[in-house]
Amino acid sequence: MAGLSRRSVAKGLAALALPNAAEAQASGALRIGFGSCARQTKDQPIWDAIVAQNPDLFVMLGDGVYADTAHPERMRAAYRRLAEKPEFQRFRAAVPTLAIWDDHDYGANDAGGDYPMKEESRRQFCDFWGEPADSPRRTQEGGIFTAMTLGPPGRRVQLIAPDLRWNRDPENSSGGWWRMARQYMAGRIFPDRAIAGPYQTVDDPSAVKMLGASQWAWLEARFAEPADLRVICSSLQVLSEGTGWEAWEQFPAERARLLNLIGDSGDVILLSGDVHYGEISALARPGVGPLWEATSSGLTEVWAVLPPNALRTAAYRGRNFGLLTVDWSAQRVLIEVKDEAGVTQLAEAVGFG
Ligand SMILES: [Fe+2]
Repeated sequence: MAGLSRRSVAKGLAALALPNAAEAQASGALRIGFGSCARQTKDQPIWDAIVAQNPDLFVMLGDGVYADTAHPERMRAAYRRLAEKPEFQRFRAAVPTLAIWDDHDYGANDAGGDYPMKEESRRQFCDFWGEPADSPRRTQEGGIFTAMTLGPPGRRVQLIAPDLRWNRDPENSSGGWWRMARQYMAGRIFPDRAIAGPYQTVDDPSAVKMLGASQWAWLEARFAEPADLRVICSSLQVLSEGTGWEAWEQFPAERARLLNLIGDSGDVILLSGDVHYGEISALARPGVGPLWEATSSGLTEVWAVLPPNALRTAAYRGRNFGLLTVDWSAQRVLIEVKDEAGVTQLAEAVGFG
């Protein structure tokens, strides 16, 4: 492993603290794996491909299990099924993991603040992913959002992981989610519609919220902390435009607020999951380089068709995981989306700083 020691990354994850001074001497690249959407009822050979990449840490971007229940015992059974997989056990033994949830591990398809079992779900999530007993993620208002900074000054990577579920208002659905999903899975998309999926972007920016006030204050405070590279770990896609499925796009005021917070910073990379295909998106910014987003989804799930996305630069439809390789000496991040065999399917080299 290059860069930070595995033990120090694990320690950083547990304590949300900077690694010790020995890491100040560390050199070389930092490797951050990421992925989402692992259905526990399927075989998951991709974990061995992830381990083979020797990442310093892995960010689980949500849908780590498909619990889809408001029954505690059924949720426990979903986690148990994942925990029993030898390939997942090998991964857990080898790679420190920072996990957030999306809808299916939170508890229900596209669920928000009105999901009835969220405290129990939070307890099971934190227990499963090894969150310490005194972690604020277990009790704080606003859910399981978290942030951590790894590495010494000059090589600090800040990971910022908001909770997009806990406080979220109901979305503006045109209805017929399952009907439309079934048609999607049959290979039909909706090129004749302005919005290709069931969700309408809300014209009134104050109509719905996703993060809530306290989490926004937390997020903005994270941007005031020193970092050499910020990685925003979002369960939902931030940049995608026109998909019509769940994304920050359905919350235009909050998407604009996040993009405004990022501004023209050259040190921010967006990661996301959820959509069941791998994708790289770029938002052009006048006078500065583009803002890049890498989406990896799913570890087991594959969508039948590729929805539109005006900001897409590349996509891969197959089981996949992502890898960020941070090259400090070149001030460059290599974004890769790799298939189940570890073969790179999408790649983009992005300068930062
Ligand atoms: Fe998913």
